[in-house]
Amino acid sequence: MHLFIGTAEDCDKKGALEIVNQIKNKPDTVLGLATGSTPIGMYQNLVQFYRDGKVSFSQVRTFNLDEYVGIPREHPCSYYDFMQENLFKDIDIPADHISLPDGNAPDLKQECADYEERIAGSGGIDLQVLGIGHNGHIGFNEPGTPFESVTQLVNLTQSTIQANARFFENQDQVPRQALSMGIKTIMQAGKILLFAKGADKADIIQKALQGPITPEVPASVLQLHPNLYVFVDHAAAAKL
Ligand code: F6R
Repeated sequence: MHLFIGTAEDCDKKGALEIVNQIKNKPDTVLGLATGSTPIGMYQNLVQFYRDGKVSFSQVRTFNLDEYVGIPREHPCSYYDFMQENLFKDIDIPADHISLPDGNAPDLKQECADYEERIAGSGGIDLQVLGIGHNGHIGFNEPGTPFESVTQLVNLTQSTIQANARFFENQDQVPRQALSMGIKTIMQAGKILLFAKGADKADIIQKALQGPITPEVPASVLQLHPNLYVFVDHAAAAKL
């Protein structure tokens, strides 16, 4: 594991640089991407590197970790919209290179199987960006999810619904289900970049990186990944 501890801004920049270097080495890189508050600053750095002519996304393909079930793509809280707003609209990635699971597909089970196939068909994810939930979830893989899981329909836990309510008008509007890459899908990535910021992530970061490897803390599986890069700010690193 490569562990970087710094200010939140340093983490954003270092993480973005890692991605820029990955794309320089392999212009048709397949990126796995995350939503949530944590990677926003890192995405802003990527946009800046693009504007400065340091990187092009014209051959890059992306697969997002997850998407809510049952809200339209255009909904301001959809992960599709989040990615457009925070990254895609400001870089040169072709629209047909972008993939998120379709939470409005008529057959959600089929959509999950198709998503796995699309990832495999792209050659697999070269670099996966991750945040971490307070309960240790990665993607929407909540505690108890088997390490062998692949893309699937998941029921969100109460703690995740509460945490995500900040993006919605109120908690009742948070979807109860999502489609998420599985833990196995995530672990198959060539390289993983895990980001965590803030004192509220200190406990779970300690458990994930230094505690027992158990499905009760889904992110603990990352200890088994041969190419894990962790970027934590000082507050989130306080208990390491
Ligand atoms: C997002 C995702 C989630 C978040 C996690 C942390 O696509 O899959 O696992 O990474 O919930 O969210 P933030 O960054 O908002 O604390």
